[in-house]
Amino acid sequence: MIARDELEIHIESVLDRFLPDAARPPQTLHRAMRYAVLGGGKRYRPRLVYATGRLFGLPDTLLDHPAAAVELIHAYSLIHDDLPAMDDDDERRGKPSCHRAFNEATAILAGDALQTLAFEVMSSIPDGSCPPESVLKAVHTLAEATGTAGLAGGQMLDLEAVSRPLDLEALTDLHLRKTGALIRASILIPVLLAPDRVRAPVEPLQRLARDLGLAFQIRDDILDATADAKTLGRNPGGDERQHRATFVTLLGLEEARLRLARCLAQCRDALSAFGPEAAPLRSLVEDRAG
Ligand code: IPE
Ligand code: IPE
Ligand code: MG
Ligand code: MG
Ligand code: MG
Repeated sequence: MIARDELEIHIESVLDRFLPDAARPPQTLHRAMRYAVLGGGKRYRPRLVYATGRLFGLPDTLLDHPAAAVELIHAYSLIHDDLPAMDDDDERRGKPSCHRAFNEATAILAGDALQTLAFEVMSSIPDGSCPPESVLKAVHTLAEATGTAGLAGGQMLDLEAVSRPLDLEALTDLHLRKTGALIRASILIPVLLAPDRVRAPVEPLQRLARDLGLAFQIRDDILDATADAKTLGRNPGGDERQHRATFVTLLGLEEARLRLARCLAQCRDALSAFGPEAAPLRSLVEDRAG
C-alpha cells in the first residue's frame, strides 16, 4: 500500500481547491462531491501523472490540472460503480458509499458533476504553461479514456458479462477499457503536455501505460477474492457473489497471479529504458506487486 506522504497531502489540497465549496448552493450536491473525492483512496492515477510529468521536468502548477482531472473522473466512476443498478456496494474507502451517505439521485448527480468538473479542470491549464494544441490533445485523450472506448464502454461490457463466460481476449479488452484506459491516460497525458521537453523515448511509456492498466485491474480482481474488508475498504468477495467476469473467476487465483506477474515484468522491462529519474514510476509498478 502507498504510504501517506507529501504528495498525498499535495493531491488532497489540489482536489480541495478545484472542488466546489460545500457552502455554495446546491450544498447537498457539493457536499456529496466532496464526500466522494476527499479523504480517501490511494490517489494512484494522480501519482502516475506527477511521476511521468516530473520525468520531463513539467512543473506541478501544470501537472495539478491533469492530476486532479484523472482523480475526479475516477471518483465519479466509483460513485456510479457502487450504485444499486451496478455493483450495489454499500461501502467505499471504508465509509458508506455516496448513495448510502446521501441518496441515489444525489449520487448520480454528484458523479455527473465530477465528470464535467474533470474536463473543466483539464481545459483550464494556465495560459503559457504549454501549447494550446497540447491541452486540446490531452482533453481528447481524457475524453477517449472516459467514454465508450474506455471506462463507460468497459463498465457496460462488465455488466453484460455477468453469468456469461468470456474468453481471455474479451476479458482483457474489458479490463483494458474499464480500468486500463484511465491508468493509461494518466501516463500519456503528461507526455502530450510536454511536446518540447520529451527527450526520453515515448514508446516504452506507451507499453508501460497499457500493461500497468491491465495489471491494475487483475490485482483488483485478486484482492476482491483474497483481501479482508479492512484492506479493501468494503465487503470482499463481491465479484464471485455477483458472478462477475474477472481474471480470478475465469482463470482461478494461481493463473491470475501468474498473469499479474507477467504484466508487471513487462512494466519493469518498459522502464528499463530509463535511469534513476523513473524511480517514482518504478515504485508505482512495485506497489501493484505487493
Ligand atoms: C478501484 O480503484 C476501482 C478500479 C478501477 C479497479 P482504486 O484501487 O484506485 O481505488 P482507490 O482510489 O484507491 O479507492
Ligand atoms: C471498477 O471495477 C471499475 C471502474 C471503472 C469503477 P470494480 O467494480 O472491480 O471496482 P471495485 O472493486 O468496486 O473498486
Ligand atoms: Mg464494477
Ligand atoms: Mg465495483
Ligand atoms: Mg473490483
